[in-house]
Amino acid sequence: MRLIQLTQILLLHTLTINASQIHEKRILIGSEWKNQGRLPASAQVVVRVALQQSNLHRAHNLLMDIAHPDSTNYGQHWSASQVIDMFAPSDIAIAAVREWLIGAGIDESRLLHTENKGWIVFVTAVGTAENLFSTKYYRYRHKSDGKTAVLCEEYSLPRSVQPHIDYIHPGIAVPVRHTHTKRGEVVIHGELAGHKPLLEMSLACDDLVTPDCIAALYRIPKAPLPPVDNPLGIFQTGNYYAQEDLDLFFRNLSPHIPAGTHPTPAFINGAEAPVPVSDAGLESDLDLQVAYPLIYPQNITLYQTDDQYYSEHGNRGFLNTLLDAIDGSYCTSCAFGQCGDDPERDPVYPNLSPGGYRGERMCGVYQPTNVISISYAGPETNFPASYQRRQCLEYLKLGLQGVTVLFPSGDNGVAGPDGCLGPEQTIFSPSFPNNCPYVTSVGGTTIREGKETALERMRGETVLSSGGGFSNIYPMPDYQAQAVNMYLQHYPPSFSSHGNSETVAEALFNRSGRAYPDVAAVGDNLAVVYRGLVGSTGGTSASTPIFAAIINRIIDERLAIGKGPLGFLNPVLYRHPWVLTDITNGSNPGCGTDGFSAATGWDPVTGLGTPNYPKMLELFLNLP
Ligand SMILES: *[C@@H]1O[C@H](CO)[C@@H](O)[C@H](O)[C@H]1NC(C)=O
Ligand SMILES: *[C@@H]1O[C@H](CO)[C@@H](O)[C@H](O)[C@H]1NC(C)=O
Ligand SMILES: *[C@@H]1O[C@H](CO)[C@@H](O)[C@H](O)[C@H]1NC(C)=O
Repeated sequence: MRLIQLTQILLLHTLTINASQIHEKRILIGSEWKNQGRLPASAQVVVRVALQQSNLHRAHNLLMDIAHPDSTNYGQHWSASQVIDMFAPSDIAIAAVREWLIGAGIDESRLLHTENKGWIVFVTAVGTAENLFSTKYYRYRHKSDGKTAVLCEEYSLPRSVQPHIDYIHPGIAVPVRHTHTKRGEVVIHGELAGHKPLLEMSLACDDLVTPDCIAALYRIPKAPLPPVDNPLGIFQTGNYYAQEDLDLFFRNLSPHIPAGTHPTPAFINGAEAPVPVSDAGLESDLDLQVAYPLIYPQNITLYQTDDQYYSEHGNRGFLNTLLDAIDGSYCTSCAFGQCGDDPERDPVYPNLSPGGYRGERMCGVYQPTNVISISYAGPETNFPASYQRRQCLEYLKLGLQGVTVLFPSGDNGVAGPDGCLGPEQTIFSPSFPNNCPYVTSVGGTTIREGKETALERMRGETVLSSGGGFSNIYPMPDYQAQAVNMYLQHYPPSFSSHGNSETVAEALFNRSGRAYPDVAAVGDNLAVVYRGLVGSTGGTSASTPIFAAIINRIIDERLAIGKGPLGFLNPVLYRHPWVLTDITNGSNPGCGTDGFSAATGWDPVTGLGTPNYPKMLELFLNLP
């Protein structure tokens, strides 16, 4: 992460140079990059102008307008094309940029437009580009791998076009390089805690959490027949279910579900499933096994990425290929200094490697389901802020369209799956995309004596505990400010934070950041059939499809009375926390601390609490 922080960019919008304003200026570059001198003025360069999406400053309020229960427009979701039209670069922006370029001598016939209008691209001489952007281009070379990049230190744009342009390439952004750590890889929450024989159903749910236990705990009746078309979306990557495992699970633990019941494939970029039972993936088996009993006979749509090559070799990107497949405009749209997928991180298609998917990357080929449960997350520090912000905006756009997206808060308490931050490894490591204020983050609990307490148990050498904390990237959204500030006031954590400490070195978390989780559900001792064996396992990756399945059930009921899906949940839940059972015991240790403590009201361990299905149903049925 050091490299990225050193080369972080600073946007300056206030300095004025004649009619132009400095648009971007780099403050630092990693010492590994060596300046090789100016480029010859006559050399040819491909210039890409990333057009600013419209109305980004309005996005938060547009979502709150339809997602906050106090709004008269609550529930009036947008169509996909309304969302695209709201945020696409405006025709005025495109015309202004074209006019400027043509006026500056760029041949009109050489100006190319990408299909969604996100970019204007042209080839010109370096000297012409330097005049256009009042800049000087240099070639840089990376000391260790010899990679080169054309960069400038700053560049300017005329005031007339500046508001319409996100950034220029080549510009100040130093390429992201592969590092040799495992940073950036997707982290799967949940490992088999050790196979246990299947206990008798009559034994307490303290020991083995069966589908019947979950239904009893959250007071969920059997699903009514027949449900409307409202499949639950479940995402998987590089981890595949086995039908044999599902069938054995259904037969033993959920006998009302017939053998052969399987998810509807929405496979992305060459992904395939199911696999033979010997190759089954725990995450995929588990997610389907906790969700099906809650929603059956409702269907599940399985969004599975990516091709065999990336599944085996991994990639440093995360979730962009899913979002491309359910929103074609995401494939190319520009925001926060990034256009489209990140070729340094995200899978690139066609992929000619062995096991590679030879087709074009899938863009807009599947409808998003009303609820998408994603049991994967990673440390916030593993991804550039621009990468995260662009993706977070996409969750906002899905919320506008009535799609609910849920993530697991993590299994490592205040530490991330890769450990803690800072030179002393003492600083808490928040989780992406839980940090995004437009998703619902799900923490975990354990059942003790029939009651729930925060998930916390030894797993080998490490503690399995409910992830929670505060983002260092996103400020705290208004919908949660009151609940979170109550916690910080009434249960001030004994360790320091940016807000109450003079020395940053002491600061372990950022009390002004987006706080998570929002809610919780049981994530321990869950019955699972994996590779033909019955066992139990846990983690917030199981809590997430449980909570998601419950939301999907509520949407079934809403659709049945002619109402719509629920979209972004958080403003409603923070406004009506009594529909959740407050979890007040336990904590989430990590980074050499006891972590945060669960407490009355919202807390950064179990959020607002766990589902009370009848109360949630009543609340959501009464909303428009
Ligand atoms: C579930 O999918 C099956 C197969 O596509 C379909 O026949 C059935 O109607 C679906 N059920 C619901 C509730 O939509
Ligand atoms: C919560 O803690 C209190 C006090 O330590 C204890 O009496 C109670 O049994 C605990 N509840 C659960 C569900 O663990
Ligand atoms: C804390 O969060 C705020 C709001 O997101 C942010 O502006 C600030 O830079 C963060 N501070 C640190 C030290 O990360």
